[in-house]
Amino acid sequence: MSKYKVIEPDTIFSLNDEYQDDKRTDKINASIGIYLDNDGKTFVIPTVAKVVSELDRSNFNYLPIKGDLEFIEESTKLVLGDKLYKKYNHLLAKQGVTGGTNGIYVWANLIALNFKKPTIILSDPTWDNHNKIFKNFGFKIIHFPQLNKNKKFNFTALKKAMRENPNAFILFQGGPTHNPTCVNPSEAEWVELTKLFKKYNNTILLDSAYIGLGDDFETDCFSGRYLLENKIKMAINFSFSKNMTLYQHRTSLLIVLAESEKERFAIDSCLNYLFRISNSTPPAFGESIVKKILTNKTYKKEWLQSLAQMSKNLKKRRELFNKLTKGRFSYVLEQKGFFSLLDLTSAQITLLKTKYGIYLLQNGRINFGGMSLQQIPVVAKAILSIINN
Ligand SMILES: Cc1ncc(COP(=O)(O)O)c(C=O)c1O
Repeated sequence: MSKYKVIEPDTIFSLNDEYQDDKRTDKINASIGIYLDNDGKTFVIPTVAKVVSELDRSNFNYLPIKGDLEFIEESTKLVLGDKLYKKYNHLLAKQGVTGGTNGIYVWANLIALNFKKPTIILSDPTWDNHNKIFKNFGFKIIHFPQLNKNKKFNFTALKKAMRENPNAFILFQGGPTHNPTCVNPSEAEWVELTKLFKKYNNTILLDSAYIGLGDDFETDCFSGRYLLENKIKMAINFSFSKNMTLYQHRTSLLIVLAESEKERFAIDSCLNYLFRISNSTPPAFGESIVKKILTNKTYKKEWLQSLAQMSKNLKKRRELFNKLTKGRFSYVLEQKGFFSLLDLTSAQITLLKTKYGIYLLQNGRINFGGMSLQQIPVVAKAILSIINN
């Protein structure tokens, strides 16, 4: 008898494999979280492509365990803004990580190493990997429903979970977007939440994978900066996968706020240890791209302009989808970023795939980033024909 158990494959990547194997030429992949251009083609932000052609490829030596130090400092300034960076940098432990996924894993590992039987509050639904990572490290997981009956953020349910689990860790997603619902606390709710974090002694992980793809970059940074200004115990996991189109280059930064410089030294030492025994050092390619963009004013401006254009295109795609589905899913207009959860049944989603070659996640998550403006009429027509039959 083998000692090895079989674990269910990842739903998003399995569906993506199925899509790749699909021989139909008019297939549409609105499942995996990537952004395609307005012609439905793979998109690399032009500034990123330009910087790649300028990179020095004569040195493949190891980076430090923490990663490229200039990448780390420049990215921290980007996430926090110069003022907060200056004020709090001495209290920030940092680690370059191999993508946002790894940032969550490293943070969960950090907490599991230092706290006995930690409890974490997660939204339901959330990105599937959140549940898997915290389960893997033995956290007690408490779920609260992210949406209320009106498809708004369920503040009441969150408050109840917080009241019943003081001292809990809580995972939020940064910016106005949320995977998969695209509904997140408003700025006013963040202000109220911050008071509650103090009352209930919470520590927050702000998983930030879509910053700049909701509103504009600075507005999307609000929650992280507000928590820091209010000295909430927190960490920010900041991924460059989507907002720099670096997906396969696994480029992200984990920032953990300490209460004192002594504590920062301890956290840094844990991060160093945990990263050394798992990855040793982060990959350099993506970090050098980000560094080059953030240290050049023109490149940084161009990159932010591209990001704003991507956001605008996502909005246009939502508007067209709403118009062509005759307001049947009008909530997509209030939501921002890549995703929305369409209320379709599992059978309807399967039919979209088998009959029309249109791939959505089985829970109804549609990715507006994965559909060009030309593809939206096709998707809208197929959905209408399925729900009207
Ligand atoms: C909510 C959320 N967090 C983190 C990530 C991690 O992304 P990556 O590991 O590609 O940087 C994703 C990617 O889909 C995500 O949706």
